[in-house]
Amino acid sequence: MNGYFITLEGGEGAGKTTVLKSLRNELQEKGFDVLTTREPGGIDIAEKIRQIILATEHTTMDGRTEALLYAAARRQHLVEKVFPALRKGKIVLCDRFIDSSLAYQGYARELGMDEVFSINQFAIQDCMPDLTLFFDITPKKGLKRISSNKDRERNRLDLEEMHFHEKVYEAYQLLVEKFPERIKVINADQPLERVEEDAITTLTRDLKEKSIELR
Ligand SMILES: Nc1ncnc2c1ncn2[C@@H]1O[C@H](COP(=O)(O)OP(=O)(O)OP(=O)(O)O)[C@@H](O)[C@H]1O
Ligand SMILES: [Mg+2]
Repeated sequence: MNGYFITLEGGEGAGKTTVLKSLRNELQEKGFDVLTTREPGGIDIAEKIRQIILATEHTTMDGRTEALLYAAARRQHLVEKVFPALRKGKIVLCDRFIDSSLAYQGYARELGMDEVFSINQFAIQDCMPDLTLFFDITPKKGLKRISSNKDRERNRLDLEEMHFHEKVYEAYQLLVEKFPERIKVINADQPLERVEEDAITTLTRDLKEKSIELR
């Protein structure tokens, strides 16, 4: 596949969705063909799986069930949306991907990062991101941003205790150590314009290093 696959990762309220939109605009202005999408979802079947995962009434959901559902949604989303776009040579910007599963289910829910990685390998078949931007901000500060945004829907994972979000944050640090080539850290604890600037600079540098021409 000759496209370029970028994922945005980080805890709640880190700024992923906000920055994804500005990255898309910036890349489109430079003449790139861009597809933006989100995980788990972006297509009907995966959005339905997402609703099952996040429904507030599903308090009895087992951790492995949750991990398998995320992997299933991921698979369908790749097949229907991401693979075709990459085959056409597009840049795909995806809001959350495999690292979210490794951090949330693998580490924070203690299923094991390696175990969760292996079920995801079955789902993704070597389609790891070319670049992952990790939006680095403490959970406390990230969650504070969300709580001041009253329009945002509340989901089951928002109701988790602070301890869970701290573990997710710890997991992302471990992932950055484990995949230093792929995962680049963006300081998300800055004014939005600065975060956006850092994200585009990192992305542009990576495209250049991999000789993907700015058109
Ligand atoms: N650098 C920033 N400084 C201040 N506020 C910000 C910054 N980045 C984003 N925000 C605000 O914080 C809130 C959360 O941002 P956003 O929805 O982009 O986070 P997210 O990482 O996508 O979170 P989630 O994982 O919950 O989807 C939004 O109201 C957004 O406007
Ligand atoms: Mg978001």
